[in-house]
Amino acid sequence: MNMHVNPATGALITADAAAFKTLFPNRPFRIRHELAGDKRLTLAAILELVKALPRDRIEYNSGKVAVDQAAETTPLVDLSPEDVIAKIESAGAWMVLKRIEHHPDYKALLEAALLSVARTQGFDSLAAAGFSDIQGFLFVSSPNATTPFHLDSEDNFFVQIHGPKQFSVYDNTDGSIANNDVIEHAITKHRNVKYDESYEPKAMHNHLEPGEGVFVPYCWPHWIKTFDTYSISVAITWKTAKVNRKNDIYSVNGFLRDKGMPQPAPGTQPGRDRVKLAVYRSINAVISPLRKSEGFRRWIRGLIRGKAANYYYNAGKAK
Ligand SMILES: [Fe+2]
Repeated sequence: MNMHVNPATGALITADAAAFKTLFPNRPFRIRHELAGDKRLTLAAILELVKALPRDRIEYNSGKVAVDQAAETTPLVDLSPEDVIAKIESAGAWMVLKRIEHHPDYKALLEAALLSVARTQGFDSLAAAGFSDIQGFLFVSSPNATTPFHLDSEDNFFVQIHGPKQFSVYDNTDGSIANNDVIEHAITKHRNVKYDESYEPKAMHNHLEPGEGVFVPYCWPHWIKTFDTYSISVAITWKTAKVNRKNDIYSVNGFLRDKGMPQPAPGTQPGRDRVKLAVYRSINAVISPLRKSEGFRRWIRGLIRGKAANYYYNAGKAK
């Protein structure tokens, strides 16, 4: 396994010490990394990963979409997942491979990257640094593809591997871009968020070349575009105990909203939150082992989030 480290620091991911001291984990900042030459992140290796992944870990569609593209009108591409990778220069596509930590080679990559950050921060383990529930998402995009405005329910070191990319992230700390209801929808239904040009003063636009990246805090909205070259990027994500708690309460609230019982945002009523968490987590403890089955995942996703939640099975059937 070729794992290069920064000769000066021994770290795979670096940033200004001041950024880690004053911005992490509440505000975005630029990072540098040593992962761009890694053999696991070449198109050849990614093609093998596509073949190995269960179908519901692969989502793809046309890359010719608007920044404010609605999830339900996203155009698809008439290609198999393998063909998207093989023809990425001309496919006009955007693809994400989800939960790549289930593959041991990629788990090792994600953990090595985060452990090197933990060590430069003075911690001797991932757990001590709060890097729990580590998940990886690998993005492959054709030239001139757009990822619409959205938010994600985790903290993320987004690293650029091949080709340039623009990564624009927006300050929503005052809730004026996405309020709690919108965040709940993005976490429990579909990640896309309504975009408006008036958000521009809140934007941090990052032009990324291979070897560069951005720290994206929990739930900070962003959109991304590629240029004239195909692009490979990885989101190295984790969830602290605090983030997991918030996400679990949002999940319960999303379910209850569907049943006609909208709920106050997490943290508004701590007593109720505790009850929701206890119920949710005891059900989850029973369900969790069953999630190893793709068929079960598809069924439970449809039951909890509605049939539309299985939308990505339609990709490759576009006409
Ligand atoms: Fe994202």
